[in-house]
Amino acid sequence: MSRYLVTMDGKIKMTTATHKTPNESEVVMTELVLPNDTNTLNNLMGGRLLHMMDIASAVCAQRHSRSIVVTASVDNVSFAQPIALGEVVTLKAKVTRAFNSSMEVFIEVTAEDIPNGKLKQSNSAYYTFVAVDDAGKPRRVPEVTPETAVEKSHYEGALRRRQMRLVLANRMKPQEANELKAIFFDE
Ligand SMILES: CC(C)(COP(=O)(O)OP(=O)(O)OC[C@H]1O[C@@H](n2cnc3c(N)ncnc32)[C@H](O)[C@@H]1OP(=O)(O)O)[C@@H](O)C(=O)NCCC(=O)NCCS
Repeated sequence: MSRYLVTMDGKIKMTTATHKTPNESEVVMTELVLPNDTNTLNNLMGGRLLHMMDIASAVCAQRHSRSIVVTASVDNVSFAQPIALGEVVTLKAKVTRAFNSSMEVFIEVTAEDIPNGKLKQSNSAYYTFVAVDDAGKPRRVPEVTPETAVEKSHYEGALRRRQMRLVLANRMKPQEANELKAIFFDE
């Protein structure tokens, strides 16, 4: 896994990163809602928003892993408030935790009505991406080192969410999901 550093004397150096912070791969993407993006109520279509979210969070996972990534799963998407034609959508994606070849990315969407100066939280979701090689085979990714209190909280919860989605996808036996058992049952 390589990344580039500019040294004090201005030279560009390639380094190997085994850990990266969420800030190193953060993505902020801004889109204007145009007529082609809307439904018959003149609001942004859910599928169009999911597409934007997939792109922003995939770029974030690519930056973290410096690799091709594929979407493995998406969870906790809900559309709390409609986003209207002409509003500006801002998507902010940050990697919360990485495992072996997979990474969880948290994405938050806000919508801004610029003429009226109104900003609203629209929705958020967790995406899971898997880094793959040219043959589509999963490959190892750097670990995440959370820095802020919010990043640490996302990091802590990521193992629980991973077990939940793997159980639901029939990829993990419920009895092996120790993090989930700790929530539901006293030891
Ligand atoms: C995701 C994919 C690469 C996993 O391949 P696989 O051969 O099953 O690989 P593995 O069983 O070794 O799992 C690899 C990783 O994927 C994770 N994974 C697999 N399915 C998952 C799911 N449903 N949710 C979350 N993570 C999942 C595993 O937990 C594992 O993570 P880890 O390496 O960090 O422990 C493969 O299923 C795939 O290519 N799917 C299609 C992806 C795609 O086309 N996405 C766009 C869809 S619109």
